[in-house]
Amino acid sequence: MMSFLQKPFSKFLQVLFFLLLVCIPSFFAFHPNSSATSFGAATYAVAEGNKEAEALLKWKASLDDNHSQSVLSSWVGSSPCKWLGITCDNSGSVAGFSLPNFGLRGTLHSFNFSFFPNLLTLNLGNNSLYGTIPLEMGLLTSLNFLYLDKNNLTRRIPFSIGNLRNLSILNLKNNKLSGSIPSSIGNMTLLTRLDLNNNNLSGSVPREIGQLESLVELKLSSNNFTGHLPRDLCLGGLLVNFTAANNHFSGPIPKSLRNCTSLFRFRLDGNQLSGNISEDFGLYPNLNYVDLSHNDLSGELKWKWGGFHNLACLLLSNNNISGEIPSELGKATRLQIIDLSSNLLKGTIPKELVQLKALYKLTLHNNHLCGVIPFEIQMLSRLQSLNLASNNLGGSIPKQLGQCSNLLQLNLSHNKFTGSIPSEIGLLHLLGHLDLSGNLLAGEIPSQIGQLKRLETMNLSHNKLSGLIPTAFVDLVSLTAVDISYNELEGPIPEIKGFTEAFMNNSGLCGNVSGLKPCTLPTSRRKSNKIVILILFPLLGSLLLLLIMVGCLYFHHRTSRDRISCLGERQSPLSFAVWGYQEEILHDTIIQATNNFNSNNCIGKGGYGIVYRAMLPTGQVVAVKKLHPSREGELMNMRTFRNEIHMLIDIRHRNIVKLYGFCSLIEHSFLVYEFIERGSLKMNLSIEEQAMDLDWNRRLNVVKGVANALSYLHHDCSPPIIHRDISSSNVLLDLEFEAHVSDFGTARLLMPDSTNWTSFAGTFGYIAPELAYTMRVNEKCDVYSFGVVTMEVIMGMHPGDLISSVSASAFSSSSCSQINQHALLKDVIDQRIPLPENRVAEGVVYIIKIAFACLLANPQSRPTMRQVASKLIARWPPLSKSFSAITLEDLMPQTTMTG
Ligand SMILES: *[C@@H]1O[C@H](CO)[C@@H](O)[C@H](O)[C@H]1NC(C)=O
Ligand SMILES: *[C@@H]1O[C@H](CO)[C@@H](O)[C@H](O)[C@H]1NC(C)=O
Ligand SMILES: *[C@@H]1O[C@H](CO)[C@@H](O)[C@H](O)[C@H]1NC(C)=O
Ligand SMILES: *[C@@H]1O[C@H](CO)[C@@H](O)[C@H](O)[C@H]1NC(C)=O
Ligand SMILES: *[C@@H]1O[C@H](CO)[C@@H](O)[C@H](O)[C@H]1NC(C)=O
Ligand SMILES: *[C@@H]1O[C@H](CO)[C@@H](O)[C@H](O)[C@H]1NC(C)=O
Ligand SMILES: *[C@@H]1O[C@H](CO)[C@@H](O)[C@H](O)[C@H]1NC(C)=O
Ligand SMILES: *[C@@H]1O[C@H](CO)[C@@H](O)[C@H](O)[C@H]1NC(C)=O
Repeated sequence: MMSFLQKPFSKFLQVLFFLLLVCIPSFFAFHPNSSATSFGAATYAVAEGNKEAEALLKWKASLDDNHSQSVLSSWVGSSPCKWLGITCDNSGSVAGFSLPNFGLRGTLHSFNFSFFPNLLTLNLGNNSLYGTIPLEMGLLTSLNFLYLDKNNLTRRIPFSIGNLRNLSILNLKNNKLSGSIPSSIGNMTLLTRLDLNNNNLSGSVPREIGQLESLVELKLSSNNFTGHLPRDLCLGGLLVNFTAANNHFSGPIPKSLRNCTSLFRFRLDGNQLSGNISEDFGLYPNLNYVDLSHNDLSGELKWKWGGFHNLACLLLSNNNISGEIPSELGKATRLQIIDLSSNLLKGTIPKELVQLKALYKLTLHNNHLCGVIPFEIQMLSRLQSLNLASNNLGGSIPKQLGQCSNLLQLNLSHNKFTGSIPSEIGLLHLLGHLDLSGNLLAGEIPSQIGQLKRLETMNLSHNKLSGLIPTAFVDLVSLTAVDISYNELEGPIPEIKGFTEAFMNNSGLCGNVSGLKPCTLPTSRRKSNKIVILILFPLLGSLLLLLIMVGCLYFHHRTSRDRISCLGERQSPLSFAVWGYQEEILHDTIIQATNNFNSNNCIGKGGYGIVYRAMLPTGQVVAVKKLHPSREGELMNMRTFRNEIHMLIDIRHRNIVKLYGFCSLIEHSFLVYEFIERGSLKMNLSIEEQAMDLDWNRRLNVVKGVANALSYLHHDCSPPIIHRDISSSNVLLDLEFEAHVSDFGTARLLMPDSTNWTSFAGTFGYIAPELAYTMRVNEKCDVYSFGVVTMEVIMGMHPGDLISSVSASAFSSSSCSQINQHALLKDVIDQRIPLPENRVAEGVVYIIKIAFACLLANPQSRPTMRQVASKLIARWPPLSKSFSAITLEDLMPQTTMTG
């Protein structure tokens, strides 16, 4: 727990410590001066207290809304020392005024600063203050700490701020301050931290900032600053963190930074800085993170890399850096991320890079690199992302790459790779994105590619691949985009979704897709092959599956221990590059993107929390579930919790909503999910217009999608995941009406002690009957809920009492239920859309039969989700009588369903 909440917690400790320092003296009566406050012996102090109280009350009265007034309800009378957020020194004068995170709305204009010459701390961070920072703030001449971050303050920073000569920390980040900084800032010579990130400040940064020799942290990022960076920085030799990213700075990187050996974190990315990086940089033994990407920097990478003992991230993309990648880079052994993409680098990839044991991201695309990929690449066992696209690399793709078993992304596109795709690629079990397009690859696609269960996108286009497409393609259950166009492939195309555009310009392919010739009638030889395949394939398939499951189990055991430290999806739009660094960014980004969980962004409510829509600065939209505070107390022990989250984050299936990450702070916890556009199935069925868009084909497809998702959770995940709360609210539809199951695993996350036994009842109307008498949860509970959801899809509303008559039917044919079993099917199904016809009608009938089997009262009689899913792939059997004559009774399971 401690390590998990370390950051916010240590901040909290700091504040607590400070409050104690300030408060303790005024509470201990034996302190000689305390009598002044307790007994009013010193009238001077009381009078002063009155004036302070008056000034504070006047400010309170000026605040805008009832919420702010109620927050400050303790602010009554004339002794401010006991008021919320106020602390006094031992003379009874107000020394601390600290009300961060209270949602206070108003301005600072009616606050009379002249009464608080002894104030040491003013902290009103993370409220809703607007208007300007008043000129009179310069009267707070004793002030040490000033936090006005995360408000809506506008206009200029007043020149008088230079009067605050005792200031040690000035934090104005995340406001809307504009204009240029007053040069008087150079008078605050004790300043150790200056944070102006995320404002609209413009103009050039005054040189006087160089006089602040005590500066440890200087943050100027995400403003509109122009001109050169201040000439003198780090004169005191104490500067640890310097960020000026995302501005319009031009000119060279100041020479004064050359000797700044204290630097730890250094970000100047997203400017127009120029100059030669070979000359402007010295030796930085402490440097941990450097980002100079997106500038106009030139020169070569001739730094003394052996002296960069602490460097974890080296980000220099999108510059004009030339020359070769130095082999000495292999001596910066702590490196985890290297991004040198979009530069003018030439020469080969030095094989010394494989000494970087901690490296997990290597991005070198869009340069002029030549030569081959070093065989020793397998030594980079932590590698998760390798992007070498758009270079002049050649030779064959080394089979050793198959040993980089943590790879999530592999992009070798637009090079000159020859030979065939190594079959070892099938060993990359975690691979999500594979791009080998635009090369000279020949030969057949290895069938081992079917082992890539997590593969979401695959591009093999623009090569010289030939032969048949391996039948194992149908095993790629996570695939959402694929392109194998512009090759020399032949034979039938595999029957999986998203494959219509993918086949262009392959002379030999055939299939039932526009643009392709239909496959010719099989010759007798092929027919017999087909029969052999029909018999052999399921057999081999299940054998393979077994092997994979055993493999996964082993693999899972082996890796889960190593990956405890990170709680974000590594390929998500949030790009949690290194969790340690990005934690705060993730949190702040989400808070901003949801407008601090503003109700306007709310898109739904569930048992565990409220769901918000959040548009990230990148333009991508995610769904954020803020957990109910009452639930947080129930979070299981943090280590187990982290493992669980990792497992859920790693789940990949096209019918399951992706979980991107999780954040927990003292104030709140939230989960970040993929955003699914059309919302819940329940909502879509309840609104007439949307229900009509859901035609019978789409409805059958929704049922298939849910079945595939559950089959995957139950049978392909290790350990299996029981959803426990399948309902039409937890099935979401995307723009193409494809189903995505959400909220899987949440039950187990939030109910630590109930791995098999439930204290949680699911959603009323979807719960399997056995849960009424036993609290034992197994997969068959999900099967039952699936049956209810399926009937809801077919009927357009919750099936209600129909369920009990189905459940009972296996025990007695003369049911005592109220439902008339002789009712005609055509009267029971959703009347808002036209009756299904032909093959679709067969599908509806078949699916209802399956649903009824799922609703059987005896859990053992219900089919497994794997059985259901495989039945839904098979062809529908023809109807035994006309659709309009079929009764419900015809569809009731007569005996236990097997196989
Ligand atoms: C008590 O207060 C007086 C005057 O306010 C001050 O000079 C003195 O240092 C204080 N004593 C202590 C122990 O704080
Ligand atoms: C604020 O409080 C006043 C008095 O208690 C009440 O009349 C008013 O309706 C409240 N305003 C809002 C927005 O709740
Ligand atoms: C603050 O108080 C002083 C003294 O009473 C007064 O002269 C001044 O105008 C007040 N300032 C504001 C902003 O109310
Ligand atoms: C800041 O002001 C904008 C409108 O100017 C408003 O939409 C936003 O909610 C405000 N933010 C805060 C934190 O008060
Ligand atoms: C800053 O200090 C200089 C020299 O001590 C002085 O002339 C100037 O007025 C000061 N500026 C402010 C805003 O205090
Ligand atoms: C940034 O500054 C430039 C020139 O100084 C100005 O044209 C532009 O509008 C400013 N942008 C913003 C967002 O303030
Ligand atoms: C520097 O930045 C890092 C990462 O944000 C942070 O952990 C560290 O505390 C900062 N150091 C100082 C001295 O502010
Ligand atoms: C860096 O330090 C060296 C030796 O300490 C000194 O000679 C040189 O002038 C310094 N350079 C800069 C730009 O401060």
